[in-house]
Amino acid sequence: TVGKSTNIKWQDCSVGKIDRQRLLKQKGCVIWITGLSGSGKSTVACALSQFLHQRGKMCYILDGDNVRHGLNRDLGFKAEDRAENIRRIGNSCSRAISFFQLLDNEFYILILGEVAKLFADAGVICIASLISPYRRDRDACRALLPDGDFIEVFMDVPLQVCEARDSKGLYKLARAGKIKGFTGIDDPYEQPLNCEIVLEHKGGDGASPCVMAEKVISYLEEKGYLE
Ligand code: PPS
Repeated sequence: TVGKSTNIKWQDCSVGKIDRQRLLKQKGCVIWITGLSGSGKSTVACALSQFLHQRGKMCYILDGDNVRHGLNRDLGFKAEDRAENIRRIGNSCSRAISFFQLLDNEFYILILGEVAKLFADAGVICIASLISPYRRDRDACRALLPDGDFIEVFMDVPLQVCEARDSKGLYKLARAGKIKGFTGIDDPYEQPLNCEIVLEHKGGDGASPCVMAEKVISYLEEKGYLE
C-alpha cells in the first residue's frame, strides 16, 4: 500500500541497485547501531565511517541527534515519537513516493523508515546511530530491507558506565527530574535478542571505538559487503 496516493505507478529505471553497487564496488546495507545515550554509538559510527572511507567505500551516517535537527525536528521522545524517528531513518524503501507522505501525519509510520533504505538502495553503506530503544521499531526497519542488509549492532555498555560518562550532562538532569522519559532512567531500553554484532564494554576504559569499528568491518568483509 502507498497510503493516500492514488493513480500512481512505480517507475522503474534501467539503472538499478546492482548497477550502482557494481560501480561503487560495494553492497548497500544499513548498519544500525543501537544503545543507551553515552554508550558510544556516534563515536563508533565515526570510526567506522573513517575506515570505510579510507578503503574507498561510500558510506553515510544518519545520527539521531543530527537528524533531529532537520528531518525529524518535529519529534520528541514519547514512545510514538521515538517509533517515528526510527522508522523515518530506518525503513526507507527506495520509493521516493514516501517523501510525499511526510506531508501527512497519518502516514508517519509508513514514511519514517524510508531514509536508510534509500541509501542502501543507492548502494551506499548507511550507518544509522540511534538509541532506538524498542525492539518492535528496530524489527520493523529490519523487515523493510532485503534479508541480510539490516545489520544490527548493539552497544552493550551498562547504564552505570554511560551514566558515569554523562558527556552531555543529560543523565544528571534526568536523575534530577529535569528531563522526563530519559532512556534507561524513566524510560525503557530493550536490548536486542538476536542482533548481528555485539560490541561489549570490557571493563576499565572498555574496548576502543577503533577496535569496535574493526569488528564491524570484519563482519562486512565476511558477508561480502566490501568487494
Ligand atoms: S531515539 O530513542 O532513537 O528516538 O533517540 P535518538 O534519535 O537516538 O536521540 C537520542 C539523543 O537525544 C538526546 N535526548 C534523549 N535521549 C534519550 N531520552 C531522552 N528523553 C532524550 N532527550 C534528549 C540525547 O542526547 C541522545 O543522544 P545520544 O547520542 O544517544 O546520547
